[in-house]
Amino acid sequence: MNNTILGLDKKKVEQLSTELNELLANFQIYYQNLRGLHWNIKGKSFFELHLKFEELYTDAQEKIDLVAERILTLEGKPLHTFEDYLKTASVPVGKNISNDKEAVELVVSSLAELLRVERRILTLASSADDEGTNSMMSDFITEQEKTTWMLKSWLA
Ligand SMILES: [Fe+2]
Repeated sequence: MNNTILGLDKKKVEQLSTELNELLANFQIYYQNLRGLHWNIKGKSFFELHLKFEELYTDAQEKIDLVAERILTLEGKPLHTFEDYLKTASVPVGKNISNDKEAVELVVSSLAELLRVERRILTLASSADDEGTNSMMSDFITEQEKTTWMLKSWLA
């Protein structure tokens, strides 16, 4: 049998699981970046950004669960250790950032990296006729593009 129980090509689905794990690892770094920013932010935008980062990490937490459970649905194994996340992720790690502009720039660059990985997954999911992963990536991309626009407007 070259197909999974879902009727998808086994090889392509394995590749998708690998790439979704890459996305998962990147989301975890992004999430942890946002926690750090939420805690360490200082200055006149404190109240505004402290809340914004909380909103973003809460959203990231939901997406992390969706990605991990999509991997399981595709019969893969979601990565779950910090060790694996650090080895796999390409999102920049932010440390002790308290400056507002620097903080928002880190979020924008993290989102750019997430978008890059998601677009790659979208292409692969399309070629595998994997509509479940496809629509998940479409939703993520639409939301993150809008968030990027808003953060860019804040930075302008
Ligand atoms: Fe808090």
